[in-house]
Amino acid sequence: MFEKNIFLNNIKTFKLGKNIYIYNEVMSTNDILLEGDFLYGDVVVANKQLKGRGRSGRIWIDDENSLIFSICLNGIANNILMPFNIIAGYAVCSGISCYTPAKLKWPNDCTINGKKVSGMLLEASFTGNNLSKIVFGAGINVNQQEFPEEISYRASSIAKHTNTCISKEILLTNILYEMEVMLEKYGNGTLKIEELWHKYSAYYNRRITIHINDEKKEMIEKGILNTGELIVEDIENGNIKYINAGEIGYDFNS
Ligand code: BTN
Repeated sequence: MFEKNIFLNNIKTFKLGKNIYIYNEVMSTNDILLEGDFLYGDVVVANKQLKGRGRSGRIWIDDENSLIFSICLNGIANNILMPFNIIAGYAVCSGISCYTPAKLKWPNDCTINGKKVSGMLLEASFTGNNLSKIVFGAGINVNQQEFPEEISYRASSIAKHTNTCISKEILLTNILYEMEVMLEKYGNGTLKIEELWHKYSAYYNRRITIHINDEKKEMIEKGILNTGELIVEDIENGNIKYINAGEIGYDFNS
């Protein structure tokens, strides 16, 4: 169970998480924020989601060992949604790295030793043509020691790498702190998205396979633009491409 008092006694942020709403069971923490009246920085945590959503229509499965939360970010401009998706990935990755080194797989899957420990989903709702709500949600495998056989080759948790039980409350305070600092730096133009990618990417300058729709391409990951597009180099002809949309799979070839 997520303990509100532990969280509040350790919070280091001024804006994010000042209001925290904890639910035992919800359909999706993103839905709570998308459907209700919430303010910038409000956070929803659930002990269990019954209908967690992943990217590209996938489902997200969690259990009592997961940290599941969403943040309301109303007011963020439409044109920074894509960079924000990357910044949020840096914040989660950095928060997890307080315990054990974590890396990103574009755009913002967080991995430890190549296995996924966190997925993130940025969603927006519109009133007419106006962006009215922005919600960022993350599911993190925190204290799991075992995973179902069918996903154990690609999923892991923080605790599997630390051999200690991790406090979900403290982990969340660390992530929110990293996010608040990064958003402030982004706002005043001092956050270097491109440089941070070199630090956080699991595959920087390494071979990857990109699947765009039905096509598979061997590429070398070359970095990221400050708008959030991934820069890749086609192994066959050296052409540079910028990846920003489409159904993208992203595999590592050792
Ligand atoms: C992915 O890897 O495809 C993204 C997974 C995002 C899961 C989180 S859990 C909290 C929030 N609520 C949801 O329904 N989804 C996100």
